Amino acid sequence: MSEQRVKWVVGNWKMHGRLAENAALLQAVADGAGALVDVIRIGVCVPTPYLAQVQALLADRPVAWGVQDVSTYTHGAYTGEVAAGMAAEFGATLALVGHSERRAYHAESSDLVAAKARRALESGLTPVVCIGETLAEREAGTTEAVVGAQLDAVLSLLSVEEAARIVIAYEPVWAIGTGRSATVEQAQEVHAFLRARLVQKEASLARVALLYGGSVKPENAQALFGQADIDGGLIGGASLKSQDFLAICAAAKAASLAR
Ligand code: 13P
Repeated sequence: MSEQRVKWVVGNWKMHGRLAENAALLQAVADGAGALVDVIRIGVCVPTPYLAQVQALLADRPVAWGVQDVSTYTHGAYTGEVAAGMAAEFGATLALVGHSERRAYHAESSDLVAAKARRALESGLTPVVCIGETLAEREAGTTEAVVGAQLDAVLSLLSVEEAARIVIAYEPVWAIGTGRSATVEQAQEVHAFLRARLVQKEASLARVALLYGGSVKPENAQALFGQADIDGGLIGGASLKSQDFLAICAAAKAASLAR
């Protein structure tokens, strides 16, 4: 039992929220989290302008928080960018990097994503490195080649000690926001492949948390989280509804206890 990896449930609010609705959501999540964090870890990644609000509302509550992207730079003439160190000043401990929406709409390469992961680590943040294939890539049979290359870019930049501190989120692009989750078998297959790839670099990296993301809902969460190599979820739409998010967190706890 002590060898079991801890499960995580992380919300990605994307570009959603306003002060009043955030407050209600955060209070409800923090209240519900108390009964769950004896077994799992819970976090929310919010739009950067809300960091101060989240810090004020979640300080001393059992929910971690973070940002959805960080710059590859520590400071400088990079208008609009946010440094990992700035997020850390607001108590953030998590930073998504390489979300497929950033890769697609901001042309982020895997090398750039790797540099962002390293910056996050330097500032004491846990990077949640997002990887995943498009539908065309899956249909062409290149899923493992695509996610393998995305993971390799990060592993080749980081030392083993650094790599041991990252979290990976496998998010098939075709499952994001579509209501069409990967099946448990599809998700587990890719997670097992990723874990083997981590172990190839260094045996101790078997313990890196591998989250699944893409249309996770209360109805499918426990089956996904019950898979041998799935260590929790990165939750988009359902993280904006406290009841759904907490139900997914409860599913992660139940899946942990069922092992
Ligand atoms: P959905 O849960 O809305 O499919 O989004 C997944 C995601 O992109 C989380 O980062």
